[in-house]
Amino acid sequence: MYIKRQRGWEIPEHLATPEAVFLSRRTLLGGAAGLAVASAFGGGRAVAAAESGAYPAPQNGAYTLDRPVTPERYSGDYNNFYEFGTSKTVLPAANALKTDPWTIKIDGLVEKPFEIGVEDLIRKIGLEERLYRHRCVEAWSMAVPWTGFPLSKLVALAKPASGAKYVQFQTFLDKAMAPGQRQFFYPWPYIEGLTLAEADNDLAFMVTGVYGKPLPNQFGAPIRLAVPWKYGFKSAKSLVKVSFVAERPKTFWEGLQSAEYGFWANVNPAVSHPRWSQASERVLGTDQRVPTLIYNGYGEQVAGLYKGLEKERLFV
Ligand code: MTE
Repeated sequence: MYIKRQRGWEIPEHLATPEAVFLSRRTLLGGAAGLAVASAFGGGRAVAAAESGAYPAPQNGAYTLDRPVTPERYSGDYNNFYEFGTSKTVLPAANALKTDPWTIKIDGLVEKPFEIGVEDLIRKIGLEERLYRHRCVEAWSMAVPWTGFPLSKLVALAKPASGAKYVQFQTFLDKAMAPGQRQFFYPWPYIEGLTLAEADNDLAFMVTGVYGKPLPNQFGAPIRLAVPWKYGFKSAKSLVKVSFVAERPKTFWEGLQSAEYGFWANVNPAVSHPRWSQASERVLGTDQRVPTLIYNGYGEQVAGLYKGLEKERLFV
């Protein structure tokens, strides 16, 4: 999803780099540099969480995996977080993200708009852990233990009015903190959206932690979305606002390149990206490619959401 102003859309890094070179780089990262990464992960927020007692949260056994959990040294060192740069190694730059205090605003077509601190929200709703697959549109994937709460519980708190049809998610906007936001050709802030029915689906998850501790910055601290049946760009990070709206939100990637990144973005191996196949995916931390599954394997839970919408571009 790399973009340069002068040259338009570029191919993703994993296609631009010969796979063998890429994999040996990752092996190196998993070894020597992995140590440095591990110490970065063991930072202050994890200690604070242990004190607060919120993590690790009890695991919800209804969400299981067909593959091993991706070790954190891989998933935590291969991230998309354009606010901090277009490379996958945004971990050092994302250290600049200040997450305490952090409040999230709930507004739009709701009974009464409100703003709440993330810690208060967690206390109010409670946390659980779920094992989810994550499939990036760039054809890599991972499997991670997210901690958070169902988005439907936030919807219930918000009490949307009858005119609310969509939920819009907005990331922070702070050019001083996030160097990527000084790149004026991106339509900041990062916006994503779901229909209200999608937001109410039990799989839609608000994430505050991973690997049994609060989110490290590069994963989108302190609160992000996870919608595992959709391409990863739908799972917006570091949210400051959730708005209930009547019109379909214009999303960040759609605003940049609507032919390649649409609103629905449901995973489908049979529908290629205009520049690469979506038939299979590279599993982070392994040298394996595995077949991609429709709705990323979550069809049973979500296919019904799209009955009657077959004329939409559901898989772009
Ligand atoms: N959210 C924000 N605010 N900025 C981003 O650049 N990238 C998206 C998504 N959410 C992105 C974002 C993309 S393309 C993917 S694949 C996932 O975050 C990556 O999540 P991860 O880095 O935790 O694996």
